Amino acid sequence: MVRSHHLLGAAIATLLPACSQAFYLPGAAPKDYQRGESVNLFVNALTPMLSGHEDSKLKSLVNYDYYNPKFRFCEPKGGPKAQAESLGSILFGDRIFNSPYDIKMLENNGTCQTLCVVPEVDGEDAKFINDRIKEDYALNWLVDGLPAAEMKQDMKTGDIFFDMGFNLGDNNEELAEAPALHNHYEIVFRYHTATPGNHRVVGVLVWPSSVGGTQDSTPRCEGNNGPLLLSESQTQAVRYTYRVTWNESDTPWATRWDNYLHIFDPRIHWFSLVNSLVIVVFLCVMVSMILLRSVSRDISRYNAIDVSEDVQEDWGWKLVHGEVFRTPRYPMLLAVMVGNGAQLCAMVGVTLVFALLGFLSPSNRGSLATVMMVCWTFFGGVGGYFSSRVYASLGGIDRRKNAFLTATVLPTFIFAIVFLLNLSLLIAGSSGAVPFGTMLLIVLLWFGISAPLSAIGAYFGSKHGGIPNPVRVNQIPRQIPPTPKYLRPWAATLLSGILPFGAAFVELYFVMSSLFASRAYYAFGFLALTAGVVGLTTATVTILFTYFVLCAEEYRWHWRAFLTGGGSAFWLLAYGIFYWASRLSLDSMSSVMLYLGYLFLLALLDFLVTGTIGFLASYWAVRRLYSSIRID
Ligand SMILES: *[C@@H]1O[C@H](CO)[C@@H](O)[C@H](O)[C@H]1NC(C)=O
Ligand SMILES: *[C@@H]1O[C@H](CO)[C@@H](O)[C@H](O)[C@H]1NC(C)=O
Repeated sequence: MVRSHHLLGAAIATLLPACSQAFYLPGAAPKDYQRGESVNLFVNALTPMLSGHEDSKLKSLVNYDYYNPKFRFCEPKGGPKAQAESLGSILFGDRIFNSPYDIKMLENNGTCQTLCVVPEVDGEDAKFINDRIKEDYALNWLVDGLPAAEMKQDMKTGDIFFDMGFNLGDNNEELAEAPALHNHYEIVFRYHTATPGNHRVVGVLVWPSSVGGTQDSTPRCEGNNGPLLLSESQTQAVRYTYRVTWNESDTPWATRWDNYLHIFDPRIHWFSLVNSLVIVVFLCVMVSMILLRSVSRDISRYNAIDVSEDVQEDWGWKLVHGEVFRTPRYPMLLAVMVGNGAQLCAMVGVTLVFALLGFLSPSNRGSLATVMMVCWTFFGGVGGYFSSRVYASLGGIDRRKNAFLTATVLPTFIFAIVFLLNLSLLIAGSSGAVPFGTMLLIVLLWFGISAPLSAIGAYFGSKHGGIPNPVRVNQIPRQIPPTPKYLRPWAATLLSGILPFGAAFVELYFVMSSLFASRAYYAFGFLALTAGVVGLTTATVTILFTYFVLCAEEYRWHWRAFLTGGGSAFWLLAYGIFYWASRLSLDSMSSVMLYLGYLFLLALLDFLVTGTIGFLASYWAVRRLYSSIRID
């Protein structure tokens, strides 16, 4: 998958030689270093990491700034300076600063150097650092756009790969000893010489270690005094040292990310895909058999009865032809939800296309989130359009209120939740909180672009008006007979959610790991196929349930279609709780709140997207169904 992205990128770059330079996204153009040129090392926020062994659990979800004063890391002269970052990168928790490491291309090879000696680390800071080591926090460095990584071996395949980030310390869990702080870094730079004299960085590996003994300023990169254990009851000095080694590599610049993007066991993705495909084929066959046979039989029967003028009672779904297009309860809310769902669908679709074209690989930091934000903003028009047309079709009249609510309700709701989560992060002293400036930028994007576009969309939507109904609505509503248990709204919702969820849950595990356990996600090909399968499954299952509901002479199908479509979101929520129980062991309140808050948001967005797919598919099917029969 990854390789094919590079191929595609390379193909486009060769096809367009003149603009191949312009084709690279920011930060994606190769940088040549001459001997002695300085290579900047940037530091990113510390993130909790899954430790190596199989059943390890993530212990926290909170990020910390590298220069959080409690860590007491060495600071550059003149204080740390924040680096410019993209919107998505900030939203996903990157906080990049410069560092005091003095690294020059091909110089100081193998020399042990002292970075600085922190003279007084007091007991309180030591406790903070030890707690973070126990929670398996990792340092995240960036050199020339590449993350510093630890070299690991895939137990299953034996492949060597680079695992991004490296441990702050050694938690000595197995030995039941005090945690040791890593204060020495063996840094290996892999460089590739493209043309004589021009070198490119193609790999950054770090082996951290803990060097105890006297912490004076003499550079000492190995020690025989054991590891450095920070005492929580006294003040002590900590010396940070590093040693840079330059290793020539024949990996060209274009494929330097391949070592990082290691797909653990691609068979799992294939398994997931086959699993989803089986579900889809099964469903499609079932649905088309049921629908084609019974519907065409029904239709010919209804029409035949009319022709023969046989005085026979109507039955099944035809009975409710005078009711199916009756305005449901809360048409405003339904239309607003469909509008927002359509906006999100468009966003997901376009983002997946970008991802498939290889634009969103982790080498463009934060590009995924940025593209999603920008798409969401610009698809405000889609939201307004769908909302107002659905609203008009449902017989609503207050169009202005509809346009206003479509543009405001969901963003305000999400914003309120993110704001609350932010508050809890701020209280925990984490850097993961979205900075005020970014919040302001998002409000501006929404207020300045998305909301006006939504209004324009709503204007065109109401100009096109509602979709005319194929059959008239009776004046007096019919009695509804008791519906079977499995067609009650909640039962139907949970039942119908199983299939789309079942088609996606293997891939969902990877998505969750990348969202919460800061694993990079790059199996976009699999993801796009899975998303397509989920959309198709949702649509067919919902149509099927709507058909059953109408056959049971229950004509209030609008909300049911949305709910049954969104049924997978409830399973997603349940899966999130299961993931929490099996893969996370969060002990701080802020981590728990963060997890539940984001899980809820994820499920809500999923509910809107799949609910909208279900509703629109049912709407289409019901219109088709009732326009095919003759009614006197
Ligand atoms: C740096 O040192 C290592 C071993 O110490 C050696 O393998 C490597 O070739 C050296 N690199 C340069 C650029 O001299
Ligand atoms: C660097 O090169 C040396 C000598 O070629 C080799 O022994 C060592 O394993 C290399 N280190 C890495 C991290 O590739």
